[in-house]
Amino acid sequence: MPDFDFLAKHYNAMTGYPGRIGMMKETIAPWISEWKVAKALDAGCGGGALLLALDELGVETIGLDISTGMLDLARDNAKERGRTFDLHEASFEEAGEMFPKRFDAVFSLGNALVNASDNAEMVRWLSGLRDSLRSGGHLLLQNLNLTPIKLGRKTLIGRRTTPQGEYVRMATPSSDGITFCALYLGPDKQTDVRFATWGLWEADRLSGCLATAGFDEIEVFGSLKKNPYDPPTSTDLVIAARRP
Ligand SMILES: C[S@@+](CC[C@H](N)C(=O)[O-])C[C@H]1O[C@@H](n2cnc3c(N)ncnc32)[C@H](O)[C@@H]1O
Repeated sequence: MPDFDFLAKHYNAMTGYPGRIGMMKETIAPWISEWKVAKALDAGCGGGALLLALDELGVETIGLDISTGMLDLARDNAKERGRTFDLHEASFEEAGEMFPKRFDAVFSLGNALVNASDNAEMVRWLSGLRDSLRSGGHLLLQNLNLTPIKLGRKTLIGRRTTPQGEYVRMATPSSDGITFCALYLGPDKQTDVRFATWGLWEADRLSGCLATAGFDEIEVFGSLKKNPYDPPTSTDLVIAARRP
C-alpha cells in the first residue's frame, strides 16, 4: 500500500478542492436519482469532497479510508463547512463486516481502486464493498482509464497552478503495471514528489473481478456522465454494478 502522506498534504490544492464539491454534486446527482439512494458509503473518501457533495444532495453518507492523514483532512474540511461525518479507518474488504447490507450505494471514485496488487486482492476488496450493500444496491467506480497510458498515448494526467505552487501528475507504463508520479513545485525551489505503482486495472480485468465478487448488471462508461467507453481515448473508466 503506498504512502498517502503526500496526498493528504497536497489533496486540497492538487485536486481543486473545494471547487470540486460542486462539480461532483452535479455529476453524482443523476446516479442518486436513478438508484434512489438514501444511504451511501464513500469508499476511499480521501479529503471528503464527495462526502460533502452527497451531504448537500441529502444522502446520509459514511466515509471509509485506510489513511489516517486523509481522514484527518476529511474531518477538517467538513468542520470548516460546519459539517461532521461518521468516518472509519479501514480497508475496503472490511466494509461488509462493519456495515452488513447497510447501503443503497457504494461510491469509490477518484482512483481509489488502482492499488490492488493482484486479482485476488481486488476481488477481496470488491467482495467487502458488495457485502455492505443491500440486495439490489449499486456500486459506482471511477478510475483513470489506464489503457491510453499503457499504450504510450498519454503521459500527462494533470497539471494545476495554484497560489501555493504547481502540481504535475504523470504516469508511464512499467513492467508491473503503471508508474505514477505526482510532483509539487513550490516557491523558493521547494519540491515534493511521490511515486506509486498501480496495477494495470483495465475495463475487462476490473469487470471480471466484479463478476467474480458476485456483482451483476455490470456496465462500463467513459465518464461519470455516461459517455461511451472507448479504451484508447476515454479519460475515465467508470463502472456501475449491482448486488443481486
Ligand atoms: C486518490 S484518493 C481519492 C480520494 C477521493 N475518493 C476523491 O475522489 O477525492 C484515493 C483514496 O483511497 C484510499 N484507499 C486506497 N486504498 C484503500 C483501501 N484498500 N481501503 C480504503 N481506502 C483506500 C486512499 O487512502 C485515498 O484516500
